[in-house]
Amino acid sequence: MEAARWAASCFNEQPWRFLVATSERPEEHAKALSCLTEANQEWARHAPVLMLTVVKNEFTVNGKPNRWCEHDLGLAMGNLTTQASAEGLVLHHMAGILPDRIREVYGIPEGFHPMTAVALGYEGEPGSLEPEWARKSESEPRTRKPLQELFFHQNWGDPFAAGK
Ligand SMILES: Cc1cc2nc3c(=O)[nH]c(=O)nc-3n(C[C@H](O)[C@H](O)[C@H](O)COP(=O)(O)O)c2cc1C
Repeated sequence: MEAARWAASCFNEQPWRFLVATSERPEEHAKALSCLTEANQEWARHAPVLMLTVVKNEFTVNGKPNRWCEHDLGLAMGNLTTQASAEGLVLHHMAGILPDRIREVYGIPEGFHPMTAVALGYEGEPGSLEPEWARKSESEPRTRKPLQELFFHQNWGDPFAAGK
């Protein structure tokens, strides 16, 4: 939480908010879980901590739209993810949430928008993961686009190569 709080943000707006539920309080955990899509509920119910992220999309200082709010929430979540990894925790982000339900059951005020959810815990045995589709997807190799498809110089599409 401290790592997320210290993220940079446009005009230091800190547009992020988090709803946190732990399995130590089963009712709260069930409430957060019920705000996820069915597919995410299937596996995320095993996670001891569930977090829902919410973003404020107007600047407090002047009421103008803050089109960087989602960028800044992403920075905060990046910090939280890195800190969690450093402490041996595993974190799984989710876009599959039910925003209207979150709004209703948590009483989200005007100007704030549910954005994502996160499941957090310690890594389990991959073989014990349920349902089967989740077990399969976790065992597949992790992939990313190569650097030359992402970093350009001079003209769009010219791969940037450091030192060349
Ligand atoms: C914003 C965001 C939303 C995501 N939504 C979901 C989701 O709803 N359900 C899910 O199982 N995984 C979700 N993921 C996980 C991605 O599918 C996963 O990070 C991606 O496939 C890369 O996997 P890897 O980081 O294990 O290599 C999400 C990730 C992010 C960053």
